[in-house]
Amino acid sequence: MISDKTILEWNEQFNNADSSEIISYFLHYFKDKIAFSSSMGPEDQVITHMISQIDNSAKIFTLDTGRLFPETYDLMDRTSKKYKVNIKVYFPDANEVEEMVAKKGINLFYDSIENRKECCNIRKIKPLLRATQGLDAWITGLRREQAVTRKNLQWIERDENNHLLKINPLAHWTEEDVWDYIKQNNIPVNPLHKKGFASIGCQPCTRAIAKGEDVRAGRWWWENPDTKECGLHKR
Ligand code: ADX
Ligand code: SF4
Repeated sequence: MISDKTILEWNEQFNNADSSEIISYFLHYFKDKIAFSSSMGPEDQVITHMISQIDNSAKIFTLDTGRLFPETYDLMDRTSKKYKVNIKVYFPDANEVEEMVAKKGINLFYDSIENRKECCNIRKIKPLLRATQGLDAWITGLRREQAVTRKNLQWIERDENNHLLKINPLAHWTEEDVWDYIKQNNIPVNPLHKKGFASIGCQPCTRAIAKGEDVRAGRWWWENPDTKECGLHKR
């Protein structure tokens, strides 16, 4: 088990480091015990690009909730072909989805926060547990700027919920950094961004935002910003 002291030292060591240096260090350190979790968001596309230059056989997975946008599936396909990476897709348990929908309806998430969390739990959290089983660490595209719930994000953190280390190589990036990098490197992104969709998750729980609105304002827009985490990143 990695000690708190080591985590602290790593965070000092990687303060000001290049993100791809962080990725490279941890891919080599944890070998087949680390995976990158991609939702095909702009940050994730940056990381996939970096990973493909380091080791395109590194483990990458995505959680297909069954409610994603068609554009997201298309991007998944284009990305794995362009970067020659294998993006493993994890699905929710079919029986659990069937039971939930039979009991509460297909669009249960609009009825209460409790229902929304139940849906996220079955469609995302449980598949994440399967995807990370046996791993020591996972890489995410989280950034501090994204939400009030993320402002204290570290590059290397203990993920108590999943008993793993969480590596956030873009923790300190601004939104502008992300888009500059994407342009400079001609990285494929979701065409919905051009239509005002900033942060993209499941189709029924994501809307486009107006100019000047917070980037995550379009996610679970009917909820309070303090509760707007699906549980993948409980802090
Ligand atoms: S969420 O918690 O609100 O859904 P967000 O969309 O900001 O998360 O994404 C943050 C990071 O969580 C992504 O960069 C990615 O690492 C991981 N992530 C989110 N959704 C998924 C998904 N469907 N599949 C795999 N990883 C995901
Ligand atoms: Fe269900 Fe919406 Fe959560 Fe997707 S984001 S798993 S549709 S509640």
